[in-house]
Amino acid sequence: MARVETKLVPQPATNYLPERDADKQPILETRNLGIDFGGLAALDSFDIAVSPTEIAGLIGPNGAGKTTVFNLLTKVYQPTRGTILFDGRDTLGMSSVHLSRAGMARTFQNIRLFNNMNVEDNIKVGLHKSIKYGMVAGTLRLPSYWKQEKIAHERVRELLSIFSMEHLTQHRAGSLPYGAQRRLEIIRALATDPKLLLLDEPAAGMNPSETAELMENIVKVRDTFQIAVVLIEHDMNLVMGICEGICVLNFGKIIAKGTPSEIQNNPVVIEAYLGRREEDHPEDERAEGEDPGVTYVEGPEGHSTDEWAADKGPEVMHGEGREEDHHADGD
Ligand SMILES: Nc1ncnc2c1ncn2[C@@H]1O[C@H](COP(=O)(O)OP(=O)(O)O)[C@@H](O)[C@H]1O
Ligand SMILES: [Mg+2]
Repeated sequence: MARVETKLVPQPATNYLPERDADKQPILETRNLGIDFGGLAALDSFDIAVSPTEIAGLIGPNGAGKTTVFNLLTKVYQPTRGTILFDGRDTLGMSSVHLSRAGMARTFQNIRLFNNMNVEDNIKVGLHKSIKYGMVAGTLRLPSYWKQEKIAHERVRELLSIFSMEHLTQHRAGSLPYGAQRRLEIIRALATDPKLLLLDEPAAGMNPSETAELMENIVKVRDTFQIAVVLIEHDMNLVMGICEGICVLNFGKIIAKGTPSEIQNNPVVIEAYLGRREEDHPEDERAEGEDPGVTYVEGPEGHSTDEWAADKGPEVMHGEGREEDHHADGD
């Protein structure tokens, strides 16, 4: 996929936004955001701004605090300090449900679907905001129920068509191949009609062709719905290919922000994340068949991966091993 390099312009509080959205209010802005667990700061001084149609990336080693950011944004966790502004509003005191209604949607690092429900019903869960049956109409199957039901069915098919999955409406979610389950989760999030979509490792476990397709689909979703996307990913092919602004976390702190080429050429980022050599981290235990953390580093000016890797030495090709999630994402 052709890469489009967006020009970022500086904003207050050391943030950057794509030039096309420079005069617009960020859809998401955090100021001095932080949370402590047992006296230790899992996240500190986290300042970002995301513009209304930006695809932004959040990257960094395992345990850096990436999922914690999503848990704070969606009010799974309450921050120890700092402010989160969503669509210009301070979210202090808002619940996850409020945020969802206001237009924030997410997917999880570990797939969370209703496995025994079919694809259509999984998506309808996300539609609750726009489709209102009413108890009486639903129980008595009044005409207004069937009207709403028809609207919901059509909306489900429309959403599925984004990922060419219309033929799967009646399939049990748990029976779908892994890649399709991840796509279904994104569709269910889109069913809530979000302004901001948060994707936690959407390409995890996908093969290269599924990942390439996912990249195109994320861009398509942004273009079609004109929404912002923030994605956490270890697949650098995906991150560098479609993200406009990237923020790098390490030990709960932002160590860099910038465009894909700025991030790829930032020595601090290469040292902390992109350039980590496997042999430097013998303690990393990688489970059989698990993917290897950072999976790809694309060269700046259209170099092939191999050429760029050769320039930088062999160490750029390996990231740290992915650890099993040893804590819940926040249930
Ligand atoms: N609920 C929690 N209680 C205690 N520690 C937590 C909790 N959630 C996350 N952490 C810790 O915060 C750090 C960041 O975790 P996380 O945000 O999941 O990292 P990432 O998504 O970047 O891999 C880790 O050290 C993790 O163990
Ligand atoms: Mg995580």
